[in-house]
Amino acid sequence: MVQCYVAMNCKLFAFSFVCFLLNAVSGDVNGPLTPDFQNWLNNNGYKSYDYPRTDFGAKGSFGGRQSASDKINNQPVVFIHGNSDTALTTGLSSPGWEASISYFLSHGYSSAELYATSWGDNSALNAASRTHDCDTVIRIRKFLEAVIAYTNATKIDVITHSMGVTLGRKAIKGGQLKTSSKTCNLGSALTNQVDTYVGISGANYGLCNCEGGSEYIEATCSGVNGFWPGNSCGFNMLDCGGVMIPCGEPTYSSFLEDLNSDPNKEGTYIYSMYSLMDEVIMYECQVWGRPTPLIPGSTGQKTYATYGHYETKSLTADDQYNMVVNHAQF
Ligand SMILES: *[C@@H]1O[C@H](CO)[C@@H](O)[C@H](O)[C@H]1NC(C)=O
Repeated sequence: MVQCYVAMNCKLFAFSFVCFLLNAVSGDVNGPLTPDFQNWLNNNGYKSYDYPRTDFGAKGSFGGRQSASDKINNQPVVFIHGNSDTALTTGLSSPGWEASISYFLSHGYSSAELYATSWGDNSALNAASRTHDCDTVIRIRKFLEAVIAYTNATKIDVITHSMGVTLGRKAIKGGQLKTSSKTCNLGSALTNQVDTYVGISGANYGLCNCEGGSEYIEATCSGVNGFWPGNSCGFNMLDCGGVMIPCGEPTYSSFLEDLNSDPNKEGTYIYSMYSLMDEVIMYECQVWGRPTPLIPGSTGQKTYATYGHYETKSLTADDQYNMVVNHAQF
């Protein structure tokens, strides 16, 4: 199946249209959250979050027991998608987690052990306006809490992609979230409840496409709570994807600075995955001489030579499985 994805980078009005062969995404997985989980959410104060997201039909969410007698044997996995994406496949720039969920289902997991919901809408045209705001981070945080409580799990695994990497890291680390419009408190860290955290193609040190004036124009590039990578560090001016001229530490957005210096870990095992040909992050994923998808404190990492931004999640379900189940070393 040939499909075209519209990948938006952060420069205003700049879009790159990326077409590629897509052979592993169509897992034909359908949600939404099961009636058992939906009833539990409604009875436990989560109704207002609309986690089923049935505005996307069967594709807005996934997870839950089919029947109240279903047993949970595997550590539950929560999947967090990125900007313009959705829980399952809803469109050209929204492949969702179908490939991963399909793989886990065929390797002994049940729907009571795999969870995803959607945040935001799925229009690539709105990508520049989405950022790490209180509503979105709290939405993800409460979903993690709901899955832990509903499944009675001692620990869960969390697999994230793109902007979902930094949203999920903050949701787990908790504490104060300062945005351009307000400050909110997320509660204490969930570190002890997370076994493995997988971050695929994230922007933990910002995005080079956000340097220069973008920090003032686009919410997603905000110097407060977006992907601003800093634009000056000694002689390093507007060249974040190039070779860094030594100058000490560049300054990223306050959100990323706080996230990367917070000593609370994302989980016992932390994995970072990315591709050198990522067409959204670009520059072989380098930001001021450092791979931006690499989560500080990672216990393992895997890089790919040729995958695109969405393929790093859609074609790597086996690696994701090996990370959360076997704590694989690469
Ligand atoms: C979690 O524990 C509660 C209370 O013991 C129980 O009613 C519920 O069925 C359990 N849920 C699962 C998924 O095992």
